[in-house]
Amino acid sequence: MSRSAPSSRGSVLIERARIIENHRVAPEQFRLLVESPRIATRAQPGTFVHVSCDEDGWFKRPMSLLDAQGDLLDILYKVVGRGTQHLSTRSAGTCLSIMGPIGKPFAPDPEAPWIIAIGGGTGIPPLIFLLERLFASGTRSRLAFFGGSELPFPLETQHRATPFIGIPEGVTQSLLRLDRLGIPAALASRSAIQGTYPGLVTDLFKSWLRLLPEPPTPGTQVFSCGPSAMMAAVQALARDMHFGGALCLEEYMACAIGGCAGCTVPVTGPDGIAMKRVCVDGPVFTIGTVLFDNR
Ligand SMILES: Cc1cc2nc3c(=O)[nH]c(=O)nc-3n(C[C@H](O)[C@H](O)[C@H](O)COP(=O)(O)OP(=O)(O)OC[C@H]3O[C@@H](n4cnc5c(N)ncnc54)[C@H](O)[C@@H]3O)c2cc1C
Ligand code: FES
Repeated sequence: MSRSAPSSRGSVLIERARIIENHRVAPEQFRLLVESPRIATRAQPGTFVHVSCDEDGWFKRPMSLLDAQGDLLDILYKVVGRGTQHLSTRSAGTCLSIMGPIGKPFAPDPEAPWIIAIGGGTGIPPLIFLLERLFASGTRSRLAFFGGSELPFPLETQHRATPFIGIPEGVTQSLLRLDRLGIPAALASRSAIQGTYPGLVTDLFKSWLRLLPEPPTPGTQVFSCGPSAMMAAVQALARDMHFGGALCLEEYMACAIGGCAGCTVPVTGPDGIAMKRVCVDGPVFTIGTVLFDNR
């Protein structure tokens, strides 16, 4: 079981954050590094921030965190519309208004034999943050990462040095920052990116489960973030394998503080189906509870 984590509601701060870097790292994708000491201290993997894209701070967009170290928040974002386009034009040295950290963080079980992270596209950053924090905590769980993207990966990749038993030959690429910690990682893409699995990340994960000499035992936890179709597939696989874990939803949001009900999703609980707000009841929900078909 994934332990339930307290929401960070009640300690959400608004901070004027100086941009240290805001540059393109891959087609349509940017890295934003901002100085936001009070939010950075409180941020945990899975919580998110609401970032102003314009100067006066009204035009905000939700973003997950790739990292929060010292005074800095590290964000990877994809330009999809007016807000993120505007954000991509903001220069280093100028300031943004940031609200956060918002929502419930991931709460992995320290006794889990394996903790497996499966991320797609803009859902990859919070999972890297989770794995790096687990590694830094000296976790005894075995860690693994599966990432899928149709655009070039926004994080540096390299030929895998960390052994990853069960990964098909030819699927050689890893993420540099995980590989150097010894966390096995494998990547998938349908865009013919060399060294990646030529298909869906969930198919790569299924193939790994089949080829592993000793499959992960029940009690294993899967954490996932990315497109809804991917998370629905991850949830179904976790159910079949009796794995626990959680999904981190990146639903369209307006207020991000629980006031507008613009981000609700159907979730099953002990009392039946209820509509939950992704911003304050999530964005992290126990795997197996999100009803993707009823949306
Ligand atoms: C908790 C959370 C964490 C997020 N973390 C990240 C992150 O780390 N990096 C990142 O790049 N993006 C992330 N997103 C998504 C990001 O917030 C949206 O891409 C952004 O709000 C789009 O704003 P825009 O003004 O550029 O586009 P808009 O003009 O608002 O939208 C452009 C198009 O994208 C669609 N769209 C907008 N938001 C979403 C969404 N959330 N899901 C699906 N379709 C959407 C719209 O329907 C429209 O078709 C996150 C979202 C949430 C809720
Ligand atoms: S975005 Fe307004 S309630 Fe979640």
